[in-house]
Amino acid sequence: MTESRVVIRRVPEGTPRPEDFEIVDSPPMEVGPGQIRVRTEWLSLDPYVRALLSGRHFRRMPQPGDVLPARAVAQVVESRHDVWNVGDRLVLETGLQSGTVTDGTDAWPLHPGHLPASTALGILGTPGMTAYFGLLDVAQVQPGEIVLVSAASGPVGSMVGQIAKLRGARAIGLAGSKEKCDWVRKVARFEACIDYRSEDVDARLRSLAPDGVHVFFDNTGGTLQQIVIGRRHLARGARVVLCGLVAQYNLDEAPPGPNLGTLMASRAKILPLIVYDYEHRRSEFLREALAWHGEGRLVFKEDIVEGLQNAAAHFCRLMRGENFGKSLVHLQR
Ligand SMILES: NC(=O)c1ccc[n+]([C@@H]2O[C@H](COP(=O)([O-])OP(=O)(O)OC[C@H]3O[C@@H](n4cnc5c(N)ncnc54)[C@H](OP(=O)(O)O)[C@@H]3O)[C@@H](O)[C@H]2O)c1
Repeated sequence: MTESRVVIRRVPEGTPRPEDFEIVDSPPMEVGPGQIRVRTEWLSLDPYVRALLSGRHFRRMPQPGDVLPARAVAQVVESRHDVWNVGDRLVLETGLQSGTVTDGTDAWPLHPGHLPASTALGILGTPGMTAYFGLLDVAQVQPGEIVLVSAASGPVGSMVGQIAKLRGARAIGLAGSKEKCDWVRKVARFEACIDYRSEDVDARLRSLAPDGVHVFFDNTGGTLQQIVIGRRHLARGARVVLCGLVAQYNLDEAPPGPNLGTLMASRAKILPLIVYDYEHRRSEFLREALAWHGEGRLVFKEDIVEGLQNAAAHFCRLMRGENFGKSLVHLQR
């Protein structure tokens, strides 16, 4: 029996390529006291990993030879642990590998409401929690307000718009293709979605929200941020949630900063969001999100590949913006 893992061959330059990674097989490690062996079932691919690879994230920069970081849904197959037993299904950091041995300190149990189990890595996992606290706690969205969100078909963005609607606000998405926008409008039921690659974002926003948006949930930074903030699409008292900068994760140097001076005229605030600050409130998010999910009030989109051998290429697709929905790797048992 061997374990397979996706390791970093070299630090990517610009947009990552499959050759930056390789699959390495090795014999399984021994399970020591206080440890468990898990077999991974679902692996999450996330844009922040690109920032990690360049040392532009507060978490440790992985080195060539290290396993590519990833969160997983995994099942315990061997246990010398006081809490986790054989058969338990957990959500934990495993890295991109078929299985691992761990002390499981950061693990939490999969909830029966996580259906399918992959939702624990998407709308009912950390991306969903990011949307939930970013919108409700950081932005304090109010009924009737207009929420604009970029990367709107992704797990964070789609959840932002759906929670906005569930709280009586209006949701406008920004996404990078007609196909994504159609899904955001017709399936996730946002009021509108602007395809920023083929439409004039400035003009569309001017007509959809002539008095500006009350919440701009910024998942990308870059040009979209420059248009929304720089061209005065923020309503008076608007809140800008700086959630992610995926548009610049592949750049070797940060681009020149946007002109934030217009924030002053709008009396708007930029509010940083770090989802890890809300770890102690995960159960609060899960209670509400699982109930919405159980009632069939949430939709989600997944972009799944089969097999660890396809994981690196799938991550590269994510970093080219070609994923459509939560990017996942499924491992057959
Ligand atoms: N603050 C926090 O604690 C926290 C926690 C979780 C996630 N985040 C951030 O939230 C954002 C969304 O995360 P997610 O998990 O929901 O991922 P995601 O939406 O699946 O992210 C990928 C999407 O970003 C968009 N994108 C825009 N410019 C891009 C570029 N230059 N390269 C690649 N993709 C680009 C693409 O959508 P379009 O084609 O529609 O533009 C792409 O499909 C990310 O920036 C992530 O880092 C922050």
